[in-house]
Amino acid sequence: MSKLLELPSYKEQAPQVAARFKRIYKRPIKLEVKNLTKVFTTAKGDVRALNDVSFNVHRREFISVIGPSGCGKSTLIRILAGLETLTSGQLLLNGSPVSGPGADRGMVFQNYTLFPWLTVKKNVMFGPQLAGQSEKQAEGNALEWIELVGLRKFTDAYPSQLSGGMKQRVAIARALANQPEVLFMDEPFGALDAQTRASMQSYLLQIWQNVDVTILFVTHDLDEAIYLSDRILVLKTNPGEIAEFIEVSVERSRSPEQFLSPEFLATKKRLEELIHPPSNESTEKLPLVRMTPVGDDVM
Ligand SMILES: Nc1ncnc2c1ncn2[C@@H]1O[C@H](COP(=O)(O)OP(=O)(O)OP(=O)(O)O)[C@@H](O)[C@H]1O
Ligand SMILES: [Mg+2]
Repeated sequence: MSKLLELPSYKEQAPQVAARFKRIYKRPIKLEVKNLTKVFTTAKGDVRALNDVSFNVHRREFISVIGPSGCGKSTLIRILAGLETLTSGQLLLNGSPVSGPGADRGMVFQNYTLFPWLTVKKNVMFGPQLAGQSEKQAEGNALEWIELVGLRKFTDAYPSQLSGGMKQRVAIARALANQPEVLFMDEPFGALDAQTRASMQSYLLQIWQNVDVTILFVTHDLDEAIYLSDRILVLKTNPGEIAEFIEVSVERSRSPEQFLSPEFLATKKRLEELIHPPSNESTEKLPLVRMTPVGDDVM
């Protein structure tokens, strides 16, 4: 039998990576989550979606949130974005308590949420105009963001004329045009094909490098989480609690060649262990209902 590739510990960090984390932790704390608990009351009883979740995010960090389906990822970022209430705990932005939504926090969802009756430019102008900018100001602002996401040629196009990847780039431009301090993204590339998804990841890294914004990014995709993030918040299910908060030991700036580096693979192995534990107790057994009797010898 061939020997499995020996991987370093996912915790091992090259000096430049360790130095980068030291610098990150010296930055101000942007978001502080303290003992956050969320219980949904339903007709069938209480669902404890999040239980005593606490963590800090520093300015300009890129954090991914991963975990099994139903572990509370969307609930967590919806609460942080002010779209959902919390049951107990506290949420601080720049050291001050926040509740409810605000222009300081933006959101990009998986499903395209552009206004179909507005052009790309008008979609991006919408938030700034709502915040009181004049049409001229908002237009100038929108054009800059549209340029940044590389869609200048599509300024006057309607969403229906754009591909899925382009729509998500407009959604990112629209969220950033409000100049949020924190951007929440809930599986924003989940509906895209693999190739478009890969180029969106590179676009997002380029955008993040050029904008002073802190990002919390929910994904199911382990490679995506490692490729994009400084740290990965891993949640476990029932109730949603923090399993581990991992510092990604892969050097920046990132490039797709790193997908096969020992640090990348070691981190991925750790995430696999956390998300798909070897015990099969966690696997829900489906009732076996045979629709048509079939064997291997069908012609
Ligand atoms: N509005 C709601 N009312 C009742 N229960 C809810 C509500 N929203 C979420 N839940 C429950 O809270 C738990 C966490 O749900 P959530 O959508 O946050 O999970 P998730 O990690 O985002 O899952 P997925 O990976 O499938 O998107 C689940 O058990 C879900 O059924
Ligand atoms: Mg979700």
